[in-house]
Amino acid sequence: MRPETSAGSSRTVPMIEAQGPMIEAQGLCKRYGQTRALDGLDLEVQAGTVLGVLGPNGAGKTTAVRILTTLTSPDAGSARVAGYDVIHQRSAVQRCIGVAAQDATLDEVLTGTQNLVMLGRLGGLSRPDARARAAELLEQFGLQDAAERVVKGYSGGMRRRLDLAAALIMHPPVLFLDEPTTGLDPTSRARMWEVIRGLVSDGTTLLLTTQYLDEADELADSIVVIDHGRAIAQGTAAQLKSRVGGARLEITLTEAHPHASQALEPFIDGALSISQDALHIRGPVRVSPGLATTVVRALDAAQVSVEDVQVRPPSLDDVFFALTAGER
Ligand SMILES: Nc1ncnc2c1ncn2[C@@H]1O[C@H](COP(=O)(O)OP(=O)(O)OP(=O)(O)O)[C@@H](O)[C@H]1O
Ligand SMILES: [Mg+2]
Repeated sequence: MRPETSAGSSRTVPMIEAQGPMIEAQGLCKRYGQTRALDGLDLEVQAGTVLGVLGPNGAGKTTAVRILTTLTSPDAGSARVAGYDVIHQRSAVQRCIGVAAQDATLDEVLTGTQNLVMLGRLGGLSRPDARARAAELLEQFGLQDAAERVVKGYSGGMRRRLDLAAALIMHPPVLFLDEPTTGLDPTSRARMWEVIRGLVSDGTTLLLTTQYLDEADELADSIVVIDHGRAIAQGTAAQLKSRVGGARLEITLTEAHPHASQALEPFIDGALSISQDALHIRGPVRVSPGLATTVVRALDAAQVSVEDVQVRPPSLDDVFFALTAGER
């Protein structure tokens, strides 16, 4: 058995014993009463890469993060982080990781600086070191102007950034971010993505959960899609998208028309789905320049009157629909 801590390792620069993957989990199971939050989840994240764990509400993302960060134990299965066992070597794991949880763990009545200094002190930094690290992070996250304000008055985006800063206080080589951008506006999301990219370029290994395919697409080297506590697909964003085909065409008609789907057939690359009232039609298409205009002309020619035409990339909904088709 490995030692709980490596001789001579300092609290701020953990000794990494991983030779294989930096995060690995096999067959993780966790039940809450009748609910199977995790039902045999496997994961693997190589050092210096980003794994996006993608799944809808209740898929088991937070449960997986809680197990990997030692906040709860699995009922079955095993996991190692930085080479340490999450059940038997918890304190060694804790020294190697940073966590930005889904529910903010910040103290509302403290200022940004006070929150970070407190966490630095808890992590074992001297007061001057904790202050210096707090100032460095507040600047890195564009929070220097809000540093001396209490967190209660922070916007959602500012809180998420401070959360992430808090996770980084001790320079952890492995970082877990549970839905880092949920609830943020597009500008704050983009800023958060920049920050995360910066961390990755510094060599941090990252596991992030998200409900957004585009976020996994932007940030992750590989993606595991989970549903009902199990991995239902794994691969790069491109591989997952190729499983659901190309872009989606979505049409709204002004009134139902018997020849609408026939008029659309030349553009559709797969199966069309039509709403019960026959006003909404969607299906996969091969994108070509001016596609939306061509489609409107073809529908016009067939005397189908159109309210709206949209061509959009496949969404997480499409991925799920395709991955679970025939299962539900
Ligand atoms: N402490 C708990 N007690 C009871 N049930 C729980 C608990 N934690 C999670 N669950 C249940 O386990 C399942 C998985 O929850 P989990 O929070 O891991 O999902 P999630 O993928 O993080 O969802 P979300 O996107 O909403 O954050 C859900 O059905 C949830 O209700
Ligand atoms: Mg969650």
